[in-house]
Amino acid sequence: MNYTAQLDDALQRLHDEDRYRTFIDIERERGNFPHAVWNKPDGTKQPVTVWCGNDYLGMGQHPVVLDAMKEAVDATGAGSGGTRNISGTTVYHKRLEAELADWHQKEAALVFSSAYIANDATLSTLPKLFPGLIIYSDALNHASMIEGVRRNGGAKRVFRHNDVEHLRELLQADDPNVPKLIAFESVYSMDGDFGPIEEICDLADEFNALTYIDEVHAVGMYGARGAGIAERDGLLDRLDIINGTLGKAVGVFGGYIAASAKMCDAVRSYAPGFIFTTSLPPAVVAGAAASIAHLKTDQALRAQHQTQAAILKLRLKGLGLPIVDHGSHIVPLIVGDPKHTKLMSDMMLEGFGIYVQPINYPTVPRGTERLRFTPSPVHGPREMDALVGALDELWAHCALNRAELAG
Ligand SMILES: Cc1ncc(COP(=O)(O)O)c(C=O)c1O
Repeated sequence: MNYTAQLDDALQRLHDEDRYRTFIDIERERGNFPHAVWNKPDGTKQPVTVWCGNDYLGMGQHPVVLDAMKEAVDATGAGSGGTRNISGTTVYHKRLEAELADWHQKEAALVFSSAYIANDATLSTLPKLFPGLIIYSDALNHASMIEGVRRNGGAKRVFRHNDVEHLRELLQADDPNVPKLIAFESVYSMDGDFGPIEEICDLADEFNALTYIDEVHAVGMYGARGAGIAERDGLLDRLDIINGTLGKAVGVFGGYIAASAKMCDAVRSYAPGFIFTTSLPPAVVAGAAASIAHLKTDQALRAQHQTQAAILKLRLKGLGLPIVDHGSHIVPLIVGDPKHTKLMSDMMLEGFGIYVQPINYPTVPRGTERLRFTPSPVHGPREMDALVGALDELWAHCALNRAELAG
């Protein structure tokens, strides 16, 4: 066996399909978000504006967060020094979990290494808690949910994206007495569309199923206290398990679930992905807790975020560019093939100092390759003008189509 040749083949396949991923090496500048410095492959540096980050609210540079992190480092050192079970549970972890439980109006919360791990660990553990469990999973659920459902050894049914009628058919076809769980998202990050939370909760009630929602692209940004779409829509009490991240709008790192005290206790006790890993560093946890405490009251920041997204969408639509607009903060611009998408991204970066990563298959279906913009309160009129001008010029240069009416 020639292992190197096998690796060459695997990598070549990605190149052949134009989906080999290139990482752009950037250093963000604290206090100056969304500006950053691009360390180019030739060793030189170029200033860039980041338009594809998931630090949706700029909390990654907020003084409240940075001060809490510095204080925790000074007080306790760098790492936590252990798993949650063996010396790695600190007052900071307890405080963050209390903050999260309060945010989502649940009895308890559990912090994981990331929301990816929280999804994977929880969904792969649930069949141990509910033998015979069938998981009904939205077709466009994030890879971490798919992985958790796939690994759990239980039964799964995949319903067409946001199709509650299809979900109903699948629920109806199964034994009413077996345990069931419906797993879905509140904001799907590639199109920026919303899950039909209330309808899914109604079905869950009708078929006596549990509900599991991923609010990763909503926490911090929606609802009176920023707890997400379920809070905004008054549905928090109808969701059994809420998953969120601390790495996007919260601006730090980590993930979690919020649920009943019993559910959290059981997942805490059975999920290998929670048990057998070092807990997050206290400084990270302290920063996340400070960020959430702040976000609970900063409605102005959320309003500013939505305003920036609305302005960008309006301006791009005005140019006739084919953006997808489902009313969320995410602005996908469909280019439609991987070569052009990569080319546009490269030209934006090198020619205009605008960094937006191309999104290709398998993250999105073939033929819908796109640039995905994430406007935030730190993107001002200057950054917006530069982006809109660059897109207008490049779209013409690449002779790409414009829609009569995008949306
Ligand atoms: C819908 C969804 N769920 C979960 C995750 C994982 O979040 P984290 O970055 O905290 O692992 C992501 C990350 O991009 C996501 O988009």
